[in-house]
Amino acid sequence: MLTYDAKTVAHLDKLYSTPQIVDQRRRLRAIISARPGEAGLDVGCGVAYLASEVAREVEPGGHITAIDNSQQSVDASKTRIEREGLERLVDVRTGDAADLQFADETFDFVVAAQVYCYVPDVARAVKQAARVLRKGGRLVILETDWDMCVWQSSDRQLTRRIMDARQAVQFAHPNLPRTLHALIRAAGMNLSGVQTFSIVETRYDMNAFSVGIVESMCNAGLKRGISSEDVTAWEQDLRSRTSDGEWFLFEPIHLHGYEIADGHVYVHATLAAALTRSATTSYTVSSQPNKPRKAYPAPKVRYKSKRSVREENSSP
Ligand SMILES: C[S@@+](CC[C@H](N)C(=O)[O-])C[C@H]1O[C@@H](n2cnc3c(N)ncnc32)[C@H](O)[C@@H]1O
Repeated sequence: MLTYDAKTVAHLDKLYSTPQIVDQRRRLRAIISARPGEAGLDVGCGVAYLASEVAREVEPGGHITAIDNSQQSVDASKTRIEREGLERLVDVRTGDAADLQFADETFDFVVAAQVYCYVPDVARAVKQAARVLRKGGRLVILETDWDMCVWQSSDRQLTRRIMDARQAVQFAHPNLPRTLHALIRAAGMNLSGVQTFSIVETRYDMNAFSVGIVESMCNAGLKRGISSEDVTAWEQDLRSRTSDGEWFLFEPIHLHGYEIADGHVYVHATLAAALTRSATTSYTVSSQPNKPRKAYPAPKVRYKSKRSVREENSSP
């Protein structure tokens, strides 16, 4: 899995200042809808861009706690918080998403943005988030299903192999949005809604998110045994796409909003409204678990290949 060492954290700092990710945070903050006086927890805070922005929204009287399991991320976060003079409002600590060191019902909201995909025991992490939320508290999760990305390249199959390599090397759960709702229900939370929006990039721009991850995709490809010739060819093809209409990345982002269930289903008005507002696509996830079904009977063979029909006809 991707380790957030000094080099990766420096890269994260740069990537998360790109206009696409700045816009992603704007959407995320609109969903969190932090209010003055609230206590919030940012799980896997990275370099504390989000924590420092939300901190200003909980003033006066509120407070943000930001945790990360990478010491380099925590150091970079502390530097940002000090530089911005926010020490009073943000407390940065080392901590694990799956083992939150806080009393029950401590926070009004918990946010985890592009973090649970790295957490091996994500079911436990979600239960921990539910535990530390107050009644009526909300959990906002931002994740990508990395299968859904589209890259423009000359070799679709090689692109797929490199994307798969990145998923295997960097993430514990590269397709989390598909199963998150079930994990959340198991943690005793209700879904308020899901919103998706996408990052679409159409220019080879050194400040673009997509250009920023090409190198790590190549490294993942090499780690998963793709030949250096193939990886080099893929990289060269992408990096030569500097003319208009040659570069394209589509990455869908899923923003999930949940609330603590207190025995009956209700919808947190602010959270639900925020999820619906400005949604490019919103989709519903059933609020009840699927009923277990009997196994489907084995299908009867109804179709015969031309070859087996020919063989049957020619048999004596
Ligand atoms: C892609 S960054 C996201 C940063 C931040 N949430 C944001 O949106 O700006 C992922 C962060 O999650 C942290 N992380 C990964 N696994 C974690 C875990 N089990 N507990 C806490 N943090 C974790 C990484 O160290 C890294 O800083």
